[in-house]
Amino acid sequence: MAGDFQDFIDEVLEKTDIVDLVSPYAKLKRVGNRFQCLCPLHNDKKTPSFSISPDKQLFHCFGCGAGGNAIHFVMAKEGLDFMDALKLLAERANVPFPDTRSPSGQSAAKHDKKKRMYEINKIAARFFFDTLRSEKGKAGLNYFKNRNILPKTIKKFGLGYAPDSRGGLLEYMSGQGYSPKELAEAGLAVLRENGSYYDKFRNRVMFPIIDVRGNIIGFGGRVIGEGEPKYLNSPETLIFKKSQNLFGLNFAKNDDSGRILIMEGYMDVISLYQSGIINSVASLGTAFGEEHARLLKKYTTHAVLCYDSDEAGQKAADRAGKILLDADIKTRVLTINDGKDPDEFINKNGADMFRVLIEQAKPYIEYKIDKIKQQYNLDDNMEKVEFTQEAAEVIVDIKSRVEAELTVKHLAEELRVSPEAVMAEVENVRRRKSSVEKIREVRQVEKGARVGASPEKFKLQNAERLLLSLMSEKNVFAAASDKIQPSDFTVDLHRRIAQIIYDTYNKGNTFSFNDILSRFDSAEVGSVASILADDKNVANKLRAAETPIDIIVAAKHKRRQNELVSDGNLEELEKEIQVLKQRKGGV
Ligand code: GTP
Ligand code: MN
Repeated sequence: MAGDFQDFIDEVLEKTDIVDLVSPYAKLKRVGNRFQCLCPLHNDKKTPSFSISPDKQLFHCFGCGAGGNAIHFVMAKEGLDFMDALKLLAERANVPFPDTRSPSGQSAAKHDKKKRMYEINKIAARFFFDTLRSEKGKAGLNYFKNRNILPKTIKKFGLGYAPDSRGGLLEYMSGQGYSPKELAEAGLAVLRENGSYYDKFRNRVMFPIIDVRGNIIGFGGRVIGEGEPKYLNSPETLIFKKSQNLFGLNFAKNDDSGRILIMEGYMDVISLYQSGIINSVASLGTAFGEEHARLLKKYTTHAVLCYDSDEAGQKAADRAGKILLDADIKTRVLTINDGKDPDEFINKNGADMFRVLIEQAKPYIEYKIDKIKQQYNLDDNMEKVEFTQEAAEVIVDIKSRVEAELTVKHLAEELRVSPEAVMAEVENVRRRKSSVEKIREVRQVEKGARVGASPEKFKLQNAERLLLSLMSEKNVFAAASDKIQPSDFTVDLHRRIAQIIYDTYNKGNTFSFNDILSRFDSAEVGSVASILADDKNVANKLRAAETPIDIIVAAKHKRRQNELVSDGNLEELEKEIQVLKQRKGGV
């Protein structure tokens, strides 16, 4: 990272007070040396789980796990990437942007290229939009009319029409100063073998795909009437990542119903929006994936899957449901009985009937179990057993104990057996799965990675966390580094944080939270902030560090002893025990 860019980041952070930054979003309450509030980053209704340390200029939420400095807050709150969040804060703090390099090391050239690509998409969208309402766009306009799309909806979504010509867009864009090569890089033109270019989208109605910041990042183009492919999407480009964006999220994120509806198609989202249901999204011609779930989680805690009623749609709902369950998003599955997809249903029955379907949507687990049930004849005892075993495979994935118990109880009543009997099947599955897990865990221990939490390990890991947070004071480092090295930390993340802190002090540099945070990516920065921000508000850090240091040192010796025992090295073991005895006697 260029030094002057780091200076720029530091200046922006210095001129930004994180308390000021958060305060418009939540009612802050002072507790000791920190502020607490309901978390503005997730649907936090009851307990204030969001905490800000004004001294350290860090925040952390125990509920959703988000954390970091002012930049990370803006990233999470506005759904921006690091650069855009930094820019926003720079503007707010009146710090001019240096035109050298960006923090990810991306060159100014790459940054400019992205900027031009956004421009190209914007101008192209305008061109498609204008064409739709021109003489050449009649086929497109007719198509939308036939599908009951109103002019105000066309405007809202910026829908358009790509003319039936090989160079309509190319020509127009070249008049605006954009080369065919640039258009190809933006996914709007295709290079022929002979070196010439042609328009990628021809005679199609166009759906601009807009990210949460309002940038047009790509397009979907639908054939008019029948034809293959039905939908043609922009290829992945510098700015278009299908796994990281959802159609309609730019609108859905502003809805306050507390849930987001997930559709299969663009037209479903548009049709619903037109009927006043504005909280739906669709994936971009790809399957719904883990990154989509993570993106959604920034905006909601509840999802409703509204996939097509056909076999493929139901399979996709199954997969998406499991991904959402794992991401801890409360998910329901809506079943459409009349019409193939939400768009058809609404056109047939109206939005109010669709709202009824939303309310009737079954929790994902119940939906799964019902589906399994259909494959068995529950009058037959043998099939009853098989059914229960298959259902147990689903129940075991439920995170909430209460939900699991309720599901078991419900199932037991239906099968007319005891809940204990059903629970026993679930436990069987769990045991089987956990023995697989255990093998994995042992392998991780062998690799020295983080291990599961027995009370002792829990205590040790907490000691490591506490010590790291206290090390912002140099005398704590001095006391600890005598006895503890970064490699003595037992959790990988702790080890890496420790290494950075040790390097900083050893080089004679000053401790900087922002420097540490800047070395972790967005997936880890929340955990890092939660560790560093949490020093329990102690007055005397050096004194507070004594216990965690003792715990870490003791654990280190215990590990050493275990190693010697398992190596059968009794001679060394004897020495080690002597050293420990002397230590205890001496202190
Ligand atoms: P309409 O027929 O216009 O109502 O579309 P639909 O959304 O009902 O169609 P469908 O259920 O077939 O497709 C759902 C989504 O899958 C679309 O919105 C596209 O994103 C994607 N999709 C459909 N057909 C194709 C295709 O041929 N290629 C690609 N890449 N994606 C497609
Ligand atoms: Mn459809």
